[in-house]
Amino acid sequence: MTAVLITGANRGIGLELARQYAANKADVIGCCRAPETAEALKELVSSSGGRVQIMRLDVAEEASIASLKDMLGDQPIDIIINNAGIVGPENQSADGIDAEGWMITLRVNALAPILIALALRDNLKHGSEKKLVAISSGLGSTSTTTSSGLAPIRYAYCASKAALNNGMHALSRDWATDGILVGILAPGYVRTDMGGAAAASHPSSISPEESASALIRRIAELTPATTGTFQNHRGETIAW
Ligand SMILES: NC(=O)c1ccc[n+]([C@@H]2O[C@H](COP(=O)([O-])OP(=O)(O)OC[C@H]3O[C@@H](n4cnc5c(N)ncnc54)[C@H](OP(=O)(O)O)[C@@H]3O)[C@@H](O)[C@H]2O)c1
Repeated sequence: MTAVLITGANRGIGLELARQYAANKADVIGCCRAPETAEALKELVSSSGGRVQIMRLDVAEEASIASLKDMLGDQPIDIIINNAGIVGPENQSADGIDAEGWMITLRVNALAPILIALALRDNLKHGSEKKLVAISSGLGSTSTTTSSGLAPIRYAYCASKAALNNGMHALSRDWATDGILVGILAPGYVRTDMGGAAAASHPSSISPEESASALIRRIAELTPATTGTFQNHRGETIAW
C-alpha cells in the first residue's frame, strides 16, 4: 500500500491530490494547519474508509514540523508532496517591497519544504517508493520570467519558487545514495483560490482535478533519470 503525505491538503491542488490518491487506494496523510475547520478534508476522511487521516502542520512553524515528526514516528512514507504555498504580499514589485511579507513567502514556499524533507528523511528511507516532491511554479523559472516579463509584480513568489527549485535540486543530488527521488513539478495554471479570478477566466487554465491527475502521473513516472529535473504537469522540462 502506498503511503502519501501531502501538505496544504485542505483545499486547492492539495485537497484534490488527497482525493485522487485515496481513490487510487493509497493511504493519505493530509496535513493542514487548521484541522478543525478543514471541512472538505474531514469529509474525505469519512468517505475514504480509513484511508485518509489528518495531521496538523503549519509549515511555517519549526515546532509544528517537529510535532508532525513526533506523530509519525518511524512510519514509512512512500511519497511526500510539499504542496502548501502562498502567493505572498500585495507589495512585491520594482515599485516597492513588503520586506516582512517577502520573508514569510520564502519561509513557506522555499524553506519549509526543505525542513520537512530533513525532518522526514528517515520516514522516506523506510518507504518503498522514496519520492520527495515539491509543487513549484513556472514562475520559479528565472529564464522564463525574465525573458517574457511574466508576473513582474510577484518578485517574492518568483524568488521563493526559484529557491525551492534550487534546494530540491540539491537534495536530489545529495540524497541519491539513499535512493530518494526528487520531483520538482509545476502544476499548470490552476483554478484554485491562488489562481483566483484570473485563472478562473483564462483559456489555458485547468481544473484542480486535471492538475492533480497529471501530477500523480508525473510522480509515478519519476526515475533516477528524471530526479532533480524541473517539469510542468505535462512532463515537459522547464528551464531553470
Ligand atoms: N493555482 C495555480 O495556478 C498554481 C500555479 C503554480 C503553482 N502553484 C502552487 O501549487 C501549490 C498549491 O496551490 P493552490 O493553487 O492549491 O493554492 P491554494 O488553493 O491557495 O491552497 C494553498 C494551500 O496551502 C496551504 N498553506 C499556506 N500556508 C500554509 C502554512 N503556513 N502551513 C500549512 N499550509 C499552508 C493552505 O492552507 P490554508 O487553507 O490554511 O491557508 C492551502 O491548503 C502552491 O505551492 C502553489 O504555489 C499553484
